[in-house]
Amino acid sequence: MSEVTEQQCLPLSDGNRIPILGLGTSAPDQPDKGVTVKAVKTGIEIGYRHLDGAFMYGNEDEVGEAIRAKIADGTVKREDIFYTSKLWMTYLSPARVRAGLETTLKSLKLDYVDLYLMHWPMGLKPSEKELFPADASGKLLQDNVDICATWAAMESCKDAGLVRSIGVSNFNRSQLEMILKMPKLKYKPVCNQVECHPYLNQNKLLKYCKSKNIVLVGYSPLGKPQNPNLCDLSDPILLNDLELKKIGEKHHKTPAQIVLRYQVQRGVVVIPKSFNPERMKQNTEIFDFQLTDEEVKAIDGLNRNWRYIPMKQFVDHPKYPFHDEY
Ligand code: A2P
Repeated sequence: MSEVTEQQCLPLSDGNRIPILGLGTSAPDQPDKGVTVKAVKTGIEIGYRHLDGAFMYGNEDEVGEAIRAKIADGTVKREDIFYTSKLWMTYLSPARVRAGLETTLKSLKLDYVDLYLMHWPMGLKPSEKELFPADASGKLLQDNVDICATWAAMESCKDAGLVRSIGVSNFNRSQLEMILKMPKLKYKPVCNQVECHPYLNQNKLLKYCKSKNIVLVGYSPLGKPQNPNLCDLSDPILLNDLELKKIGEKHHKTPAQIVLRYQVQRGVVVIPKSFNPERMKQNTEIFDFQLTDEEVKAIDGLNRNWRYIPMKQFVDHPKYPFHDEY
């Protein structure tokens, strides 16, 4: 992938376009300063033009530094880059939405982000210091914010030119419907970013999103391989799946490339995180082969509605999205 071509983008409902492959930048296992800068610069050199970040990841200053360095050295122009950020749970109250976005822009030292998502439909009490504010007993301080009011404030950010497109993340169908049915809706969410991989293929949510012209962006498309910080070591390891290995052998591709190709073929945007140059490159080498219908069907058959990121600490939140089937 030397650069993102037209075929490798999907149209968004607001007229903008999103590259179908992006580089995830969430790296809680690598808190050292400088690691993200180096990885994102390498990613841009390899050919990534879509970078997926968030206030919550705590490294937007480094992502911004890398983007600005690659603009300064002539590798890319700002308009070649598609940067996604996300509004954190402690900023959902409408009066805080713009401040949340401005904090991100200040860290990035950029004038706008390409896509801004409501990270979760669940609010937490406003806090400047804590990502997860809790009381003395450790109980999370939930805030049952009206997500439609948050959405209206995000629309104003688009009108102010601080963001090109707006969307949501971790929304279930009824939460998407709440936004779509807003009496004064100005802009539809262009996308819903959710966990998506062959063990949680989101077929029903994908079908619904497609029917509403909402792009589904799949996070953790590789199934969180062996990341003890984020999931249980007893979790099933997607990339060890024998069916994926078998299909990979036929195409001379790795299981990671097979699961990424699977998503691209079904119109799902993928944002695998890697800070390892070989794996970063490997993850771009998915546009030179095609899975057969039978192979896609076999991969569909692996679904077991398995969430690597169930956010169990939020199950009693009134806006917890995963009680519904989809
Ligand atoms: P690394 O950065 O060491 O490559 P996420 O679920 O957030 O997208 O994270 C993906 C995880 O999978 C990261 O821990 C990443 O680690 C690892 N990874 C990325 N690409 C590959 C690959 N091609 N094969 C195996 N593991 C991968």
